Amino acid sequence: MALQPIVTLDNVMKAYGTFTALHNINLEIGTGEFVTLLGPSGCGKTTTLRLIGGFETADKGRITLAGSDVTQEPPYRRDINTVFQDYALFPHMTVAENVGYGLTVRANRKPKDERVRRVGEALALVGLSDKADRMPQQLSGGQRQRVAMARALVRQPKVLLLDEPLSALDVKLREAMQVELKHLHQKLGITFLMVTHDQEEALVLSDRIAVMQGGRIAQIGSPSELYDRPASPYVADFIGAANLIACTFAGREGGLAKVKLPDGTLMSGIEVQPGQELKDGGKALIAIRPERMQAGPTPAGNSALSATVVNQLFHGGRFQIELRLDGIEAPIFVDIARNTVAADGNVPQPGNRMEFHVAPLDVLVYRAEDGA
Ligand SMILES: Nc1ncnc2c1ncn2[C@@H]1O[C@H](COP(=O)(O)OP(=O)(O)OP(=O)(O)O)[C@@H](O)[C@H]1O
Ligand SMILES: [Mg+2]
Repeated sequence: MALQPIVTLDNVMKAYGTFTALHNINLEIGTGEFVTLLGPSGCGKTTTLRLIGGFETADKGRITLAGSDVTQEPPYRRDINTVFQDYALFPHMTVAENVGYGLTVRANRKPKDERVRRVGEALALVGLSDKADRMPQQLSGGQRQRVAMARALVRQPKVLLLDEPLSALDVKLREAMQVELKHLHQKLGITFLMVTHDQEEALVLSDRIAVMQGGRIAQIGSPSELYDRPASPYVADFIGAANLIACTFAGREGGLAKVKLPDGTLMSGIEVQPGQELKDGGKALIAIRPERMQAGPTPAGNSALSATVVNQLFHGGRFQIELRLDGIEAPIFVDIARNTVAADGNVPQPGNRMEFHVAPLDVLVYRAEDGA
């Protein structure tokens, strides 16, 4: 990361009683970056945000903001604001009063004319200038979300923390707000650290994503790095869809791996992910994205596969074909883009055999012990 770091976490640990919620977290967020913490429920995303915001104190380690150690500082001494998942708007205050509240309290109190001006600017930024006198309960979910954003932005913090900011919204509105959030980030140049458990949201919004697993960062990188080169089956499975197929490691040839599938298929020319210690004859897992498996004749160098079609799932722009490979219980999925088939009738039907192929570079191999 070439950017100047604005937030750093050095070996940060947090326990609740005997339960360790975060183990030695190391994270560096660059100035102006949009970073997302992604992971399943309970993996420590909110805890990480609360530590950075100052709502919890780390048991070990150090947190710095713009070069200063803030590990022991209270929230109001940190140049950071948070948008909470439930927005936490004050029901008895108007929209303008909610937005201006942060400019009336202790350390940050501002004179009235400045408050009015900054509230006006923040409301304009989120497109709510005409709703200044409404009460929160007179607003839609999306409008409330915008009030929460305006309230967090009014103090012009260096860093904005967003905890599942869009999760309360329905799909259409969420997608529209994702675009707005991205525009806002581009326009303001403020550093955004967002929490989500929606992998697609993380992929479309982030400069970098940190995938968390049981209080640790499993991998951090750009969306395409995580998608194309996941460091473990866990990350492969969490980011996007992945076919994870149990197989046997069958040695190397010129540095590239060979694996044997339960149906006897031998695949070669596979790049081994760093840190994977694979033993000849040992159990391995391969991961292949559904859109990387292709129907039709096999070009030289690709591996040919054959499976029985179980289901044909129509997704509008693509068909998702559910398949069973001989000797494997778990289903695998192949995507067929609709604009690549002359007629829908050509798409493999349940009960048919389907021949397909995959390029070695689209196959990732892992030690099976790493779990999925
Ligand atoms: N105040 C607390 N006391 C005890 N345990 C806590 C406390 N806060 C969080 N935990 C535990 O720490 C772990 C991490 O919690 P955290 O809220 O960070 O998860 P999360 O990743 O944000 O999950 P979700 O997606 O469900 O919001 C969980 O197992 C949770 O039960
Ligand atoms: Mg949470």
